Amino acid sequence: MTETRQLYASFDSARYHREYYSEVDPEVQFFLQQLHQTFAEGLTDCPGREVLDIGCGPTITAVLSASRWADTITMADLVPANREAVMEWLKKGEDQLDWSPHLKYVAALEGGGLTPSQLADRVRHKVNRVLPADVLQEEPLGAAVPNRFDVMLSSLCLEFAATDLTQYQQALRNVTTLLKPGGYLIMQGALGNSFYLVEEARFPSVSLTHSMISESLRSTGLCEEQWHQIPRQCPLDKMADHTGCFFVVARKKE
Ligand SMILES: C[S@@+](CC[C@H](N)C(=O)[O-])C[C@H]1O[C@@H](n2cnc3c(N)ncnc32)[C@H](O)[C@@H]1O
Repeated sequence: MTETRQLYASFDSARYHREYYSEVDPEVQFFLQQLHQTFAEGLTDCPGREVLDIGCGPTITAVLSASRWADTITMADLVPANREAVMEWLKKGEDQLDWSPHLKYVAALEGGGLTPSQLADRVRHKVNRVLPADVLQEEPLGAAVPNRFDVMLSSLCLEFAATDLTQYQQALRNVTTLLKPGGYLIMQGALGNSFYLVEEARFPSVSLTHSMISESLRSTGLCEEQWHQIPRQCPLDKMADHTGCFFVVARKKE
């Protein structure tokens, strides 16, 4: 096990949610707006509508807009507690995390009278499984999940799973094997970030620039179709040292 995987063994899902998702901060708004736009417009000539959110954490925000377009959504993460948090929300368990600010925000983006609770029902209906995943393995979902996906979402994952650029690129190659030719990778993350904290626990990150990400996509056989970035928007006391956030849409060559 690499050091990063050892660190994530004690990841505190509830605290992560409290510290980073208790409100819809401007950076999360940026991500949600980009996802909304992408799925409202649709994805040109996408082979199908099977979506995977890899490295989902305890977080459902990356799949809110996807649930409008997808036939099915698979969620996957390394950490059992994260997968349990997602499953607890899916079954409306007593200990489910509160995503109501995000549901409200995305329902308002979609408009047409969609209520937050209708949006939550739609997500619960579309997510059909929550699987273990390790992006540092050649087969991130293991050999038991043979099918490939039409769209892969990855939010704030690969740069946090890897310890250097070489390992980041390997993780990108690993997850890209899960994508069908012609399928889309939609990735959002942090620029220039070297760590984040969840209470006292410190998680390292590979510090990325746009050109590093572009080169990594290119060398993995992915065509960058859209790039959006914003400078850091959050208060200085947010416990990470990123300089900005990015959203990229890339397509796997046929
Ligand atoms: C910063 S959190 C992001 C969580 C969520 N996607 C979000 O946008 O809030 C990093 C996530 O990467 C996951 N992760 C770390 N190493 C991983 C690995 N080797 N394979 C799969 N997921 C991993 C962690 O479990 C955690 O959920």
